[in-house]
Amino acid sequence: STETSTALRVPKTELHIHIEGALEPELTFALAERNGITLPYAGVEELRGKYEFGDLQSFLDLYYTGMNVLRSAADFTELADGYLARAAAQGVRHAEIFFDPQAHTTRGVALETVLDGLEASLSSSEHRFGISTELIACFLRDRGSEEASRMLDELLEHRQRIIGIGLDSAELGHPPGDFATVFSRARQAGLRLVAHAGEEGPADYVWQALDVLGVERVDHGVRALDDPELVSRLARDRIPLTVCPLSNVRLRGVANLREHSLPRLVDAGVLATINSDDPSYFGGYVGDNFRAIERELGFDEAALREFARNSVEASFLRDSRREQLL
Ligand code: ADE
Ligand code: ZN
Repeated sequence: STETSTALRVPKTELHIHIEGALEPELTFALAERNGITLPYAGVEELRGKYEFGDLQSFLDLYYTGMNVLRSAADFTELADGYLARAAAQGVRHAEIFFDPQAHTTRGVALETVLDGLEASLSSSEHRFGISTELIACFLRDRGSEEASRMLDELLEHRQRIIGIGLDSAELGHPPGDFATVFSRARQAGLRLVAHAGEEGPADYVWQALDVLGVERVDHGVRALDDPELVSRLARDRIPLTVCPLSNVRLRGVANLREHSLPRLVDAGVLATINSDDPSYFGGYVGDNFRAIERELGFDEAALREFARNSVEASFLRDSRREQLL
């Protein structure tokens, strides 16, 4: 339909995509075979059948298990190439891509292997796919601030290879404020700052991300709607939220898309952007998220284009490329 083509065709910037969440079951099996790993699933369909989640943790369990097939730099290159091909087909022109270094280093894969592999794909993404890219390294909040601090030391040896840092993994019980020192050190090194907050956690975690960590964007942030004062603050200071509609439904943050808080955030004047989070696990890439909000929430073409413009505004793009995308 024309609806479909609009949602996919609008040029997009994606600001919330975990590259490990773009691991498609077909690649999981190919890499398992290449690396001599036996998977506890008969095949691709059985694995895909496991993608049924009750909450964030039930997803994370599968997500961390799945990425165990990523071993060599070439594996990470193929992962990123697969994302770029699918993103390009859905109109993506710029992507600021998360990766989880600790999820690899703690199982014996060196940070350098991860960075070399991702960069071998991403350094030519604009030429090959028309997608400019940046990398954001996320700390796993459930592993604590001391390990995050040591990972930051290691990341700073590769300072020029990343644009910023983020904070992800199991949110409840792991408030942003715990990472104040780590984020302050990263800021001093000139890194851009983002954090997941208000996905499952309370509005208070969003306040902490803003006022203790000083983040420039909030990832998810949908629980902000529980706190009118917070919504006013986000709107007044034009602090972007990277909203991931299909993710919120699949992780049961909301019963169905029609009940999603996105329209209320938009009405309150919040700078909302649309993103895929973990596209292989949540039923679609960013264009599929645009299509879903068009169909289920009634956002029209003008509204979809505004979401896409919001992402350019919320991006860490240099001005010359920013102008090309507006
Ligand atoms: N890691 C990958 N996807 C995530 C999400 N949606 N929330 C927290 N951590 C994540
Ligand atoms: Zn995320």
